[in-house]
Order: sequence, then structure tokens, then C-alpha cells
Amino acid sequence: MRVVLFTGKGGVGKTTLAAATAALLAGSGRSALVVSTDPAHSLGDALGTELGAEPTEVADRLWGAHIEARHLLDGAWGELQGHLRTMLAGAGVDELVADELTVLPGVEDLLALVEVQRFADSGAYDVVVVDCGPTAETLRLLTLPEALSGYVERLFPAHRRAVRGLVANLAGAKNDNGGWDRTVAALGAFAEQLAGLRALLADRTRTSIRLVLTPERVVAAETRRTLTALALHELRVDALLANRVMPGPPPSLRGPAARWLRERAAEQRAVLAELDQIGADVPVTTVRYTAAEPTGVEALRELARSIYHDTDPAGSPDDAPVRPLMEMRRTAGHGVSRDTEFELDVALPGAEDAPLDLARIGDDMVVGIGFSRRVVALPSVLRRCEATGARLEGAGSDARLVITFVPDPGTWMTS
Ligand SMILES: Nc1ncnc2c1ncn2[C@@H]1O[C@H](COP(=O)(O)OP(=O)(O)O)[C@@H](O)[C@H]1O
Ligand SMILES: [Mg+2]
Repeated sequence: MRVVLFTGKGGVGKTTLAAATAALLAGSGRSALVVSTDPAHSLGDALGTELGAEPTEVADRLWGAHIEARHLLDGAWGELQGHLRTMLAGAGVDELVADELTVLPGVEDLLALVEVQRFADSGAYDVVVVDCGPTAETLRLLTLPEALSGYVERLFPAHRRAVRGLVANLAGAKNDNGGWDRTVAALGAFAEQLAGLRALLADRTRTSIRLVLTPERVVAAETRRTLTALALHELRVDALLANRVMPGPPPSLRGPAARWLRERAAEQRAVLAELDQIGADVPVTTVRYTAAEPTGVEALRELARSIYHDTDPAGSPDDAPVRPLMEMRRTAGHGVSRDTEFELDVALPGAEDAPLDLARIGDDMVVGIGFSRRVVALPSVLRRCEATGARLEGAGSDARLVITFVPDPGTWMTS
């Protein structure tokens, strides 16, 4: 079973290429589901048929569905949101404000992906192709499971009583601890759901992301940022699909139209060359600009054949060992003495082009590059150390931040 996610900016052709990929897979004998999580209903238009929230068979072995994330709000998140709202209202927060405070931006996109996971786990399809929301920002939300499970772990059971008392007071219900327990259970259920989703998306042998873009001038820098963000979250991008690539007109063609075409084609070539540079590990595949809109299963299949040729449209699983986000080594001392020194090596692909941000919050390290942030738990020995410096090593996909640590005299090997 494979999961292939298509993402990119609005209008670049995500829906078209996701549908084309699924159509080609189904045509070559595998059962393929293409599912859209984008609130803009256009997957049905691309396939030339009506779609619903449950998969319908569009052609032999080709299934399509359109997830309505709004309807998913009654699940684990809805329950948790309800509890939080009650708590806030109990603390005297106005009902409307409480409603607003419990809206988690992007949670609907995340819930739509939970639904994708349900389809993927159903065993009914060889490949699930996902037409994602307009940007890869959605995928940034995947820090959420990590962060949430961290909170739950930390709050319980160690500080259970203290927190429970505090919240019960806040809620003005000094004798009702049952409400808080239910909130905690709901939080746990939500965190578990997200952790399952994170596991599916981070599974490089099953899942990959294809970034769709149109080769225009501003695209290269943005693509680089997106690739960096996805790499920081250890999500695998297996292709950059440059869509709507214009053919250069034959040299014999003259006139303003030919000049326009020639200029556009040259501009696209320049952007493609730039993309080839940045996507060192990610191949760039070009998709031609077709004269007619590629809609309907047959036209989509034909477009897909011109993209994939004789390679597998589902991509191939990545079995190569993944370089861990962080690696720790001892550089001095023998690990017990006070003169011990450690280095923590944090992989930050593309780090040299974006503002770096590093912060220590308790036992966690917050690693930020540009607009992306990730919270990672520090190896236990480093929790008793303090950071004394940091330097950047390597470049491009090999860029790393090396942070040096020495024992914190207050907590080091004290008994
Ligand atoms: N390679 C292509 N050649 C011609 N038209 C295309 C191509 N790719 C997409 N389109 C058209 O562009 C429009 C936007 O594509 P769509 O797949 O809906 O984008 P997105 O899902 O990214 O918003 C649609 O009308 C689609 O038919
Ligand atoms: Mg779309």
C-alpha cells in the first residue's frame, strides 16, 4: 500500500496531476483511490463525475472521494474542543470568545488527513492518492502530535493532582474532578489519533509527497523553503512536478505570438534550471501545458503517461536509512567527569539560506528555520547540560547545526 500526497499553491494543477496519477495506476491494474481534502470541489470536475464523502468507483479500479472536513469536527477533536470550551466558560470567559479560543487553525485539514488514513488502512486500495489543500502549510501541522503527546506525558501523571486542583478551581467546580478527567481522556484520544497520522505520513517506505508548481519567477525560493520545512519534519518529497511547461515554438515561426511563446519558454527554462539546483535530492519532472484542459479519465491518463513514461506512478519506497534529525556525540571527557563535552548535530537542510532559530525550553529543543519550527526532545544526558555554542556545518541538503554542551554543575551527576 502506498500513499502519495500532492501539494502546492492554489491553481498550479494539484487536482489534475493527482487525478491523472490515480487514473494511470488504475489503468495499469492497481486499485487506486484519489481523494481530495481541498475544500474547493474540483476533483469531481477533473474526473468528470460527481463525488461524495465515501469512495465511488469512477472507472475500473479507479475510485474517487471528496472529504468534507467540516463533518469530521464531531470526532476526537470536537469532543476535546467541547471540554475546553466548557472549562473556559466556567472560568468566566465569554461564550463567543471561548468559541474563538478553541479554534485551532488548520485543524480541519488535519482531520481530513485522519480520514485519508482511514481509507489507507481499509486495505481496499493498492495506492491512495491525495489531492491536498492549497499549500504544504497543512503538513506543518504535523508538529502537533509531537507537541501534544509531549504535553500529555508531562502533565500526567506526575502533576496530575496539582493541575486538576487548579483547573477545577478555574472552572468554579471545586467538587467536580470528573470533568477534568474527561478532558484529559479527550486530549489523549486526540493526541493518539494525530500520532497515528504522523506515523503514516513519516513512513518513508509507504508515503511520499509530490510538490506541484508552475515554473514562474518567484517559485524557486518558495519551493526551497517548502522543501526545507518538509525535511525538518522528516517528511519525504519524492518529486517536484513542474506543471504547464510551454513548448518553445519552431524557429521558423515569426510574429508577436511566437515572440511571446519564446520569451515565456525561456523564462520557464531558467526557473527549471534553478529548481534543478535546489532540489538536489528531489528529481524535477516537467509536465507539458496541454492545449485542451485535461479533464476526464482518458485525457488524464494520457497526460500521466507523458509524465511517468515507464516509471511507476506510485513511486518507489525509500528504504535507505534516514539520517536522524539529531545525533549526539561525546567530544571530551569520559561521560561522567565534569570536563565532559558533547556535541549535538541537528540536520537542517537548506539552513544556510534561512534565518535560524534555536531555543531551549526545559527538556526540549525548539529548532526553527525560516517559517518552520520543530520541537524535539533532548537526549536525556543533555538535559543535565547547558549549551555553550553553536556553529553551522555543511551546505544544502547536508547543512547541519552543531551545538556544544557542557555539564550543568547544578544537575550533573549529583546524587
Ligand atoms: N498541464 C496542464 N495543461 C493544461 N491545463 C492544465 C494543466 N494542469 C492543470 N490544468 C488546468 O488548470 C486548472 C487548475 O488546475 P487544478 O488541477 O484544478 O489546480 P489546483 O488543484 O492546484 O488548484 C484546471 O482548469 C486544469 O484543467
Ligand atoms: Mg485543486
